Amino acid sequence: HNRKPFVGGNFKMNGSRAMLKEIIDRLNTLELKNHVEVVISPPTLYIDQAHKSVREGISIAAQNAFNCTKGAYTGEISPEQLKDVGVDWVILGHSERREIFKEADDFVASKVAHALKCDLKVIACIGEKLEEREANKTEEVVIRQLQAIAKNIDDEKKWEIVVIAYEPVWAIGTGKVATPEQAQEVHVIIRKWLAENVSEKVAQETRIIYGGSVNDANSPELAKQLDIDGFLVGGASLTEKFIKIIECFI
Ligand code: G3H
Repeated sequence: HNRKPFVGGNFKMNGSRAMLKEIIDRLNTLELKNHVEVVISPPTLYIDQAHKSVREGISIAAQNAFNCTKGAYTGEISPEQLKDVGVDWVILGHSERREIFKEADDFVASKVAHALKCDLKVIACIGEKLEEREANKTEEVVIRQLQAIAKNIDDEKKWEIVVIAYEPVWAIGTGKVATPEQAQEVHVIIRKWLAENVSEKVAQETRIIYGGSVNDANSPELAKQLDIDGFLVGGASLTEKFIKIIECFI
C-alpha cells in the first residue's frame, strides 16, 4: 500500500502560551521530508498561536466542531470558521466527547458530514470501552460507530480527507496500550468493513491510525503493523517523546 503515515498530537485541554511555544519550537527542529504527515491539535484558544509559529509541513487540527455554519449556538465553533483561520483538520467523535459530553453516534456523524462538506479534513475517532471488549463486543461497537459515520459520507471522494482513529477507550490515558496484535486485529476489521461497504479503493487508501497510551517505547512495534498507518497521541504529544514517535515513520 502507499498510505502516507499520519501522526496526530491531541493536546486536549492542556498547555499555555509558554508550553505551546516549547512544543512548537521542538517540532520546528524536525527534519520532516515528505514521508509522514504531522498534525497538532492544541486547545482552540491557541490555534492561532500554533498556526503562526509552526513550521511548514505541520498542520493544525481543531479538537471539535459543530454541525452547522453559524447561529445561536453558544460556545460552539463551525468548520467554516476553522477554515477561515487556517485550520485544515478537525478531530471528531473522540471518546471524551462521546463519554463526557454525551455525543451520540448520529450527532458525531452529522458533524463529520458538515466538516467534510466544508472540505475540513476529519480525524474520525471510534473505539470500544473496557466492558465492551470484555463482553466480546469490540467489533460490534467499532462497526456501529463507523457505520454511522460512513452512511453520512455520500460522496466517495470525501473519504480522501478522512482518517480513522481507532482508540480503545480502556487504553486512553491509562498507560495500558493495546498490544500490536490487538490493534492490528481491529484495524483489519475496520479495513475489511470499508472494502465490503464502501469500496476496495477506499479501504486501501484510508489511513487507520491507533490511539491510546502511545509513547516512544511502544510506538516502533505498533508502527510495524501492516494496517496501522500512524497514531493519535495524547499525553506523549506534550513531551519530547512526540518527536521519537514521529521518527518511527521517518
Ligand atoms: O487522542 C488521543 C488519545 O485520546 C490518546 O490519549 O495518548 O494520552 O492515551 P493518550
